[in-house]
Amino acid sequence: MSEVLTTPTATVTFDRHEDIRTALFDPSLSRTFDRRSYDEGNIRDGIVSIAHGAVHRGRRRVENAMFRAEVLRLYERDLFPAVMEELLDVLIDREQVDLFAVGELLSVVLAARRAGIDHDRGSVEQLRTLVRYVDAFSQGAAILDAKDPDAVRALVRATYAEFERDHVRPSWERRAALLGRVRAGELPEDGLPQDILTVLLLHRDDPAIALADDGRVVREVATYLQGGTHTSAQTLVNAVDLVFASADPAAVRDRIAADTLYAQRVVQETLRLRPTTPKIRRRAEADTEVAGVRIPKDALVVLDVAAANRDARLFGERPEEFDPDRAVDPAVQRWGLSFGAGPHQCPGRSVGGGFPVPGSFTVDDDHVYGLVARELQAVSRRGVRPDPSRPPERDTRTERFTRWSRYWVLFASAPASTPGSR
Ligand code: HEM
Repeated sequence: MSEVLTTPTATVTFDRHEDIRTALFDPSLSRTFDRRSYDEGNIRDGIVSIAHGAVHRGRRRVENAMFRAEVLRLYERDLFPAVMEELLDVLIDREQVDLFAVGELLSVVLAARRAGIDHDRGSVEQLRTLVRYVDAFSQGAAILDAKDPDAVRALVRATYAEFERDHVRPSWERRAALLGRVRAGELPEDGLPQDILTVLLLHRDDPAIALADDGRVVREVATYLQGGTHTSAQTLVNAVDLVFASADPAAVRDRIAADTLYAQRVVQETLRLRPTTPKIRRRAEADTEVAGVRIPKDALVVLDVAAANRDARLFGERPEEFDPDRAVDPAVQRWGLSFGAGPHQCPGRSVGGGFPVPGSFTVDDDHVYGLVARELQAVSRRGVRPDPSRPPERDTRTERFTRWSRYWVLFASAPASTPGSR
């Protein structure tokens, strides 16, 4: 059995929504392309994204607690709005701004908090350091698409070391002290921070989650820091890009500024058209069959999410068009398969994209709109518009067509007026 799947026995591609879902639920298909240990060169060794079977289930059981509805509401309503406006005041300090950089800085604040990385939220310098880590870890997460995998491995290893020394260890020590107090009965368990590092430390002795190795804890925390930042920033930029390309960008922008549920539909429509992972991949751990197609052991299975998300049977006529008001088959999500499905389905989907939007387009007070919708609304209220003098730049380090590295926009010099919000 090969340690690293470099020459698959076959490549099998699916591009229909239902076949991709079947594949994503098939226990014989894994995300483990590299079985080596970290020391042998596998930069993703032991993290939830590539774990399989019982360890994966155990890990998700523990970590999913950080994505309960009340935790989501706490982050979206109590923590995020003030942080976001404060940061936007600092970051939009001139007319011409790189929106991708703004999106990363906005998203990393809460991603760090959820991951359990303490930081001084007022220090843009410190946030930039976290964003630099995220950029390295994102390249690591996309290693299957990397044009120069060895360079990516070296960068990611060096970044883990720095991240551990400067950020994880100090945050870890603080949490270990709090856990000691909980175990001594001096502090109730609900007095602990609501973050991934804390729950990992709390459950670390459970062999089912395979986290005895300190390096794995560091890499798991890095996975959540990265998972919550880069994808959200890319989605914000893609949303703005689609708004700018629409027939009447100023009207769409004003509607987003006025209506949070519309802003959320724009984000979910963006996710459908511009999935951050256009092609999800799996490795066949054993011979299996999906939708009548035989898949031999050690085959590479490619799930073309970008194509499935444009299925006219599910998303209506002209599925390739950007139409946040489109009617969608109630059996499928408006974002298509852009958060995956099955055991590895994105745990942060409600953080990024909010709760599903019902076909009636009406929601109750418990609804979560998602951070990207909040960000999109905030920049729309500040009058974001295209910068004709400076074209955006795509990130060409991977083959994913939905990634940007710079996206120049202009803002009104004074914040735009805020039409009544819902
Ligand atoms: C717009 C935002 C986001 C998008 C488009 C996105 C997309 C995805 C996708 C497609 C997967 C599954 C990949 C596969 O099955 O191969 C995934 C998994 C994951 N995402 Fe997200 N994500 C987003 C936001 C977040 C946030 C906010 C967090 C954390 C706070 C997060 C953390 C993770 C983690 C840890 C996994 C791995 C889960 C596992 O393997 O069990 N993501 N994401």
